[in-house]
Amino acid sequence: MIMHNPRLGYLIAIIAISLIVTFYQIQFAKLQDKIETLERNIVRHDQQKLVLNNNVNDNDFVLIYNRVPKTGSTSFVGVTYDLCKVNKFHVLHVNITANSHILSLDNQFKFVKNVTNWKSIKPALYHGHFAFVDFSKFGVPKPLYINIIRKPLDRFISYYYFVRYGDNFRPYLIRRKHGNTVSFDECVSKSLPDCDPNNIWLQIPFFCGHSANCWKPGNKWALNEAKKNLVNNYLLVGVTEELNDFIDILEHTLPTVFNGSLHHYLNSNKSHLRQTVQKEMPSEKTIVKLRQSMALQMENEFYEFALDQFHFIKKQGKKRIQNLMYEKIKPKLI
Ligand SMILES: *[C@@H]1O[C@H](CO)[C@@H](O)[C@H](O)[C@H]1NC(C)=O
Ligand SMILES: *[C@@H]1O[C@H](CO)[C@@H](O)[C@H](O)[C@H]1NC(C)=O
Ligand SMILES: *[C@@H]1O[C@H](CO)[C@@H](O)[C@H](O)[C@H]1NC(C)=O
Ligand SMILES: *[C@@H]1O[C@H](CO)[C@@H](O)[C@H](O)[C@H]1NC(C)=O
Repeated sequence: MIMHNPRLGYLIAIIAISLIVTFYQIQFAKLQDKIETLERNIVRHDQQKLVLNNNVNDNDFVLIYNRVPKTGSTSFVGVTYDLCKVNKFHVLHVNITANSHILSLDNQFKFVKNVTNWKSIKPALYHGHFAFVDFSKFGVPKPLYINIIRKPLDRFISYYYFVRYGDNFRPYLIRRKHGNTVSFDECVSKSLPDCDPNNIWLQIPFFCGHSANCWKPGNKWALNEAKKNLVNNYLLVGVTEELNDFIDILEHTLPTVFNGSLHHYLNSNKSHLRQTVQKEMPSEKTIVKLRQSMALQMENEFYEFALDQFHFIKKQGKKRIQNLMYEKIKPKLI
């Protein structure tokens, strides 16, 4: 019948074609929707990746310990060397030639770039005797700085005898001033250069950093800068006199790296390591004379400031039952 009615034939053909076109249009619209959803997901994924890259990830952080000489740092570093294999992190010593505590600007930049970009070494702990390097100055994320400081006069006297008599860590090593038997009291009373109170100026410049004023003994700006850095740029600063607590807080804060470190510290011989031989306590007369020094007064003020901050953190840490969680999250997470 259709064969005999060309008009009906046309009509059916047109209807059939329209149906096919409509079908494909619907399919096409569905595909476009899918593409849009996928594109949106890709963007969201990239954004998430960006956030992750900027965050402190348990396996992706850098610790810097710019140790001040004669603060008992060797035993702490020893613990990290013992644990690094088990806890899967790296420990690196930063060796600066000629024992200089200040890095040239180009070496600072090289160091900052290398530490930031060296992904395969992370998590990592870098330690060395250098002044605070300000990473944010070079436009990169800040690392986690840690440090340990000691009562300034104790540190100074320990250093004085250390260069004369060495310590029980490497007793065979002949030290720089070996054979010099002048006592610390005698040195101070005769105002000899080895016990010049300006040489006490060391913990402040280590925290102050790479500015000219940092290295001027008794400079008030340097003291304030050191305090500011301690609070704003250091994760934790402990004291030699309370090293157990320092390790304990680190272990609770960064368990991936420091897991087991307090137990190891207390049960290995690390806690008795490295005592300077032949240390004599200074006389009252010596202390009275040295206290006149602005450098010592400021170093003492800085030590007390650090101690106060450390005790504050320690006190909060005793609330180990303290819990932190999120609630009332709106709109609801899917
Ligand atoms: C630092 O490197 C120098 C030169 O390579 C070396 O002589 C010195 O022993 C190193 N210092 C330490 C503490 O290892
Ligand atoms: C950082 O420095 C070390 C030692 O020079 C080198 O082996 C390493 O490849 C450097 N890493 C980067 C990311 O530049
Ligand atoms: C710490 O070490 C102990 C035993 O070595 C292990 O059972 C525990 O899961 C570790 N904790 C972390 C946070 O790595
Ligand atoms: C500490 O103990 C280790 C072995 O556990 C030993 O080899 C080392 O000589 C000891 N160090 C000191 C200073 O006693």
